[in-house]
Amino acid sequence: MSANHLQSNGYNVYFEEQLDSLLPLIEAGKYSKVFVLVDRNTEEHCLPVFRSLLPDLVDFDIIEIDPGEENKNIDFCIGIWRTLVDFGADRRSLVINLGGGVVTDMGAFAASTFMRGIDFIQVPTTLLSQVDASVGGKTGIDMEELKNIIGTFANPKAVFISSQFLNTLNREQWVSGFAEMLKHGLIQDAAYFHRLKEMEMEEISIQEIQHSVQLKNEVVMQDPKELGLRKILNFGHTIGHAIEGYFLMHSNSHLLHGEAVAVGMICEAYLSSKYNGLSKNDLYDITKSITRVFQTIQLNKISDDALIEIMLKDKKNEQSQIGFALLKQIGEASYNHFLGTEDIKESLNYYRQLS
Ligand SMILES: NC(=O)c1ccc[n+]([C@@H]2O[C@H](COP(=O)([O-])OP(=O)(O)OC[C@H]3O[C@@H](n4cnc5c(N)ncnc54)[C@H](O)[C@@H]3O)[C@@H](O)[C@H]2O)c1
Ligand SMILES: [Zn+2]
Repeated sequence: MSANHLQSNGYNVYFEEQLDSLLPLIEAGKYSKVFVLVDRNTEEHCLPVFRSLLPDLVDFDIIEIDPGEENKNIDFCIGIWRTLVDFGADRRSLVINLGGGVVTDMGAFAASTFMRGIDFIQVPTTLLSQVDASVGGKTGIDMEELKNIIGTFANPKAVFISSQFLNTLNREQWVSGFAEMLKHGLIQDAAYFHRLKEMEMEEISIQEIQHSVQLKNEVVMQDPKELGLRKILNFGHTIGHAIEGYFLMHSNSHLLHGEAVAVGMICEAYLSSKYNGLSKNDLYDITKSITRVFQTIQLNKISDDALIEIMLKDKKNEQSQIGFALLKQIGEASYNHFLGTEDIKESLNYYRQLS
């Protein structure tokens, strides 16, 4: 690995100034047409940066979608496919996804299924999509409250990560991405977690971002299809996804992915201390470090049963048992823990008593 580039499963991840290798890559691909998928916000904030970094890339069509998780669905996907058809896309066309995880997940899904799969390049523009959605080859869309229930495994031609896109990101979005960085430390790298837990958002630099991508990459390279080890990346996500799904369906107040994962990590750290040997000290440290940055969410009005109902439909389950990745200690995780509903309720109550 050079200082600025990382190898994943058959594609490279480029950082910072290496964005200028995008143009030769496109030229080498001899694409019939190039499309850039954006949402309204990334069209306003990121497309100008993209153009300024790549002034010689002029010949592309823009596909614009509405921003937000609520639009990561089949209706918008049909819109993308329709536009590709109307603008004359063929099997030799390229889609560049310029946006947060919604754009990169849905754009990759649309590309990986269009004409049985055309090339795509990921240019993630939120902290969350840079540190998490950027590697691993998962594409997807939601179906009502079921997050990423429809999707494919498909690798991009390349990924380009530049901190220059992050200047326009609001604090909420920084915090959301920070949850996944903390997770990468918690499951794999204690020193990284302890470094991050002291940091202010403004101090996060491309080095920390790159380290997070590297940690995730090490896992997905070993287990691309999530048959084993990759499941550790789901730490915080069994309960986190249920909370995120619940808010998506039932609440006017929106909850970001990372905010939901932050709640999930606290609950699942509690379960780790009950079932996987996580020490009380580590549980306390994790709870304190997460609540330092993430406001506690009011779960009082949400019934446990409603959340458990969502968890029962989770992709991570086996034989209708709810599956978890749990911590052994800060920096080490294990997977395939199947727990009952009483334990889940107990962990939600641990979280509730924090506020
Ligand atoms: N494929 C994977 O492995 C993977 C991993 C983690 C998360 N995800 C998915 O990622 C999604 C969440 O990602 P997200 O938080 O990036 O969501 P997002 O794409 O909705 O982006 C968040 C908001 O920020 C705006 N935005 C994006 N870039 C901006 C910029 N540079 N400046 C200003 N505004 C900007 C977007 O328009 C949006 O309103 C979820 O759907 C989740 O399932 C996928
Ligand atoms: Zn996540």
